[in-house]
Amino acid sequence: MDLQLNGKTALVFGAGGGLGGAIARSLAAEGVSVVVADIHEESATATAEAISGAGGKAIPLVWDIGDLSLIGQKLDAIKAAFGPVDILVNNTGGPPPTPAAGQSPDDWSKYFDLMVRSVIAVTDAVLPGMRERKWGRIITSTSSGVVAPIANLGISNSLRLALVGWSKTLAREVGRDGITANIVLPGRIATGRIVFLDKQKAKRENRPVAEVTAESTGSIPVGRYGDPKEYGDTVSFLASPRASYITGSVIRVDGGLINSI
Ligand SMILES: NC(=O)c1ccc[n+]([C@@H]2O[C@H](COP(=O)([O-])OP(=O)(O)OC[C@H]3O[C@@H](n4cnc5c(N)ncnc54)[C@H](O)[C@@H]3O)[C@@H](O)[C@H]2O)c1
Repeated sequence: MDLQLNGKTALVFGAGGGLGGAIARSLAAEGVSVVVADIHEESATATAEAISGAGGKAIPLVWDIGDLSLIGQKLDAIKAAFGPVDILVNNTGGPPPTPAAGQSPDDWSKYFDLMVRSVIAVTDAVLPGMRERKWGRIITSTSSGVVAPIANLGISNSLRLALVGWSKTLAREVGRDGITANIVLPGRIATGRIVFLDKQKAKRENRPVAEVTAESTGSIPVGRYGDPKEYGDTVSFLASPRASYITGSVIRVDGGLINSI
């Protein structure tokens, strides 16, 4: 299937990391010019270089998504390099693992700003152009925890759910402008973040990491962690004109992990 993505421009956040990097590589393989945005310069450069090395078009862009004062200048830089953003992939870093109870009000505000307010502000900055051009894709990556809250990820489970309500509301507002807004949920995709969480759990419970990982993959119906490429390819499909009738949806990429309909 030709995804008809050739020549579009995508802005992918967290693209120096596992999921964002896989999304960036997948979009670039479909002929999309990709802005590899990440707070971490080395990771952004590594992803952009890998894409260029494979014959794709990408530039790294160091960008702390939490700093709203940067939005105007960064979008201008993207416009100069690749033209306006057609596809926005909202993928922020995750908060530390913590219980829901007992977190300080300052921490709740800090992670709300980083994971929710930032996403809404960047989206609001690209929407007017998408509306004018009558085409756009807003894809927001969250976590399976928004459907089935994950123990000891209290901040993540709570704040990411706000993005689900926002995305659904937005989809209804922009549908007639040729813009779709969807949420993608990773179950457990094999990135550095998953290795980190397994190590933290092993430490907390004083058990070998291999045992924690085996227990974790054992609870997934397909019997393994997801390959980041499987996640990236799902996002590429949703970003494409082929997926023009999918909006306001929550798409699970979880190997069947979430135990509800
Ligand atoms: N991997 C999974 O299976 C999984 C499951 C559920 C949720 N998630 C969530 O998805 C997101 C991405 O996961 P991942 O596995 O790719 O993690 P990752 O740690 O590999 O990547 C996250 C990337 O975000 C970047 N980043 C962090 N703060 C930033 C900021 N303020 N501005 C711009 N970039 C920033 C980091 O530098 C990093 O490159 C995380 O929030 C994670 O919690 C992942």
